[in-house]
Amino acid sequence: MKKILVTGGAGYIGSHTYIELVNAGYAPIIGDNFSNSHRSVMEGLTEICGFTPALVEIDFSDATAVEALFNSYGPFDGVIHFAAFKAVGESVRAPLTYYRNNLGSTQVLLETMQRHECKTLVFSSSCTVYGQPKCLPVTETAPFEPAHSPYGFTKQVCERMISDAVNATPHQLRAVLLRYFNPIGAHPSGKIGELPLGPPENLVPYLTQSAVGIRGPLTVFGNDYNTPDGTCIRDYIHVCDLAEAHVSALSWLLNQETALESVNLGTGKGNSVQEVIDTFNTTTDGTVDYTIGARRAGDIEQIYASAEKAKTLFNWNTKRSLADALRDAWRWQLELQTRETAS
Ligand code: UFG
Repeated sequence: MKKILVTGGAGYIGSHTYIELVNAGYAPIIGDNFSNSHRSVMEGLTEICGFTPALVEIDFSDATAVEALFNSYGPFDGVIHFAAFKAVGESVRAPLTYYRNNLGSTQVLLETMQRHECKTLVFSSSCTVYGQPKCLPVTETAPFEPAHSPYGFTKQVCERMISDAVNATPHQLRAVLLRYFNPIGAHPSGKIGELPLGPPENLVPYLTQSAVGIRGPLTVFGNDYNTPDGTCIRDYIHVCDLAEAHVSALSWLLNQETALESVNLGTGKGNSVQEVIDTFNTTTDGTVDYTIGARRAGDIEQIYASAEKAKTLFNWNTKRSLADALRDAWRWQLELQTRETAS
């Protein structure tokens, strides 16, 4: 069984990927310091997998600790690097925290992998590297636009750092840089999902919390954009489709002698904020009330992926619809309410 280190494996995308790695016959080990995730995720994973996942509590920007992890648990056949902070607004308020955590952990990981001759890296990047692209759907060859936030800049720099390292020693490091569009939804079991700390900044967690009564009505940030219904357009991808893509990417990468590929992970289809609301209200038993508000600073008008490269390279495709993702997000929200009431 191939041993895979999953940094940030207790996070939203990391935890769903953990399950898919297990399903595909890998032996994943989670490294996480719970700075941006809840310990209860481990219980959900245990229930879904039927065993307690291997877990090391660790800060990946701590070089001594990462060296000790590789000495104790390695050798690893590959690393999937999720561990990072990811809130755009917070990164503007605390940029140095973002640079230390996101850049520091990636550098430490690359150096440690090099020392331990671990040559396979799947990196968690974001479509934020594109800014507002000139052509849609956006392909991987689109140029980077100047980053709007420290968060976005850390993704651009990490991609560059990894690319430079691969190019310097292509036979010692191979990498796939996965650019996520908008991950939403939850595991269909209702046992794990997104767990934002504090009021959510993202659309779907805010929407489900509003529908369940924890928050007030959803504010739609602007309906005067140059789109068919005036609201912004994004490419919403079910987190389980995203998780499966990581396994496909890893399996592909392990079979390459050398590789450095940036790959979009999206559905290839854009949906507006209004369409997300309408789909939620018509396909779940929940209802979200909303008001139209001002545009949110920093929002781009529309972005959606060309998903062709991922399909061709990894033989992967999305299987779940927007409605599936919203139903799963809603089931997860109701599960959280049940837990809250019981405690
Ligand atoms: N939106 C609302 N009301 C809300 C929250 C969001 O109308 O309460 C709208 C936004 O204006 C945007 C859309 O819903 O049009 C999606 O917003 P999200 O905050 O859910 O997602 P973003 O597209 O802004 O950001 C996501 C990730 C970032 C990543 C970025 C890349 O959250 O980590 O995509 O474009 F950097």
